[in-house]
Amino acid sequence: MASIDRRWRVRSGTPLQGTTPVPGDKSLSHRAVMFGALAQGVSHVRGWLAAGDTEASLSSIRQLGVKIDRHDQNTLTIHGGVLQKPELPLDLVNAGTGIRLLAGIMVGQSFPSVLDGSTQLRRRPMKRIIEPLTRMGAKIEAVDGKAPLTITPAPLTGIHYDMPMASAQVKSAILLAGLFADGETVVTQPGPARDHTEKMLAAMGADITVEGNVTRIKRAGLLKPFDTTVPGDASSAAFVIVAATVVPGSDVTLSGVNLNETRTGLIDVLQAMGADITVTETGLEAGEPVGTIRIRHAALKATEVGGAVVVRMIDEFPVFMVAALAASGETVVREAEELRVKETDRIAVMAGELRKLGAEVTETVDGFRISGPQALTGAVTDGHDDHRIAMSMAVAGLVASGETTVLDAACAADSFPGFARVMAHLGANLHEYEPETA
Ligand code: S3P
Repeated sequence: MASIDRRWRVRSGTPLQGTTPVPGDKSLSHRAVMFGALAQGVSHVRGWLAAGDTEASLSSIRQLGVKIDRHDQNTLTIHGGVLQKPELPLDLVNAGTGIRLLAGIMVGQSFPSVLDGSTQLRRRPMKRIIEPLTRMGAKIEAVDGKAPLTITPAPLTGIHYDMPMASAQVKSAILLAGLFADGETVVTQPGPARDHTEKMLAAMGADITVEGNVTRIKRAGLLKPFDTTVPGDASSAAFVIVAATVVPGSDVTLSGVNLNETRTGLIDVLQAMGADITVTETGLEAGEPVGTIRIRHAALKATEVGGAVVVRMIDEFPVFMVAALAASGETVVREAEELRVKETDRIAVMAGELRKLGAEVTETVDGFRISGPQALTGAVTDGHDDHRIAMSMAVAGLVASGETTVLDAACAADSFPGFARVMAHLGANLHEYEPETA
């Protein structure tokens, strides 16, 4: 996404109102193309997220010889069954989920492969998957525990693995390798991390069981194809949820959002802070509870965040900082050190960008402290090629006086293509432009 230079100009003063869907769930969309490739037969996917991260997974799967018909941007037919040796390294661009899950699949194949990505992805820690996959027998070469990952075929054996961190990507990589391993693979997570892999593989007929924090999987027989509609991404909804909460006069309804309880920590925390959010479950899609979320502006009180809820809102902390700035009292976030190894160090980068708007944010090793409410002043800020930083700064701009510019905003399309359009449709004073047309 970095090749296009898009910027946003944002101003406060207009309430957000109306109804909108949000784009398809990123986690499910990565999994749909990967798992569809492993199924014996033809899978159909509607509502697929066509975004930078997921397109990288889709083109990697195509490079593995899997035919994917594209009826429109969001509607796919995946002809699964046999993977073939890719001619070139697989480029997962900025997608951490893409590279880590695909590594779990590639270690089980009878041909070699190389998994790589952008400079940003090459900085992210891969030891967390290399270590357990190597214990299973995988042969993975990597310099300093970072991508590119060079994988040589090797037989795999199931292991019992106690994950040191509650990471769905690590858990998924091991479970996927377990599909190709002798014996049973058992993964214990320290707390509940998103469970999309377990649910999807179970629906496809994999021999997988989940009891509390322990998941067991055995070598796959035939994996069944699926016909599914991907619900809206709760992590994309988060930007609208915080924006409508902090902007006076707002009243927004989001439809078709994934309400999987491993993903809804932000809503729980905001409600405890006094937010006016009503969640109505309307059904099931792709095995996930789906519903509408109505958000009306409300005054917030500070809170303390730590423990199990952290992983249930791990992608939402950048925009949560904007909510904390609006809340009265001191908000304290602990046990969120994983934020430092996302697309960017999201604690340091958000603190730095919010300071440009005049905010006072205290960084801690594993979180931050923010005393509010604080008045923000518009300034020029930067997205740092991290979609969630760019969108969080746009939300901050909606409550800052004067004008806020977000540079490097094109990266928002890694997870939320059309973010600026959706926000403008809801009434936000948010204008997207390319520098030469400014
Ligand atoms: C994801 C897991 C999380 C999350 C990421 C998507 C997934 O990462 O931050 O955006 O789809 O499995 P970790 O597993 O590293 O916590």
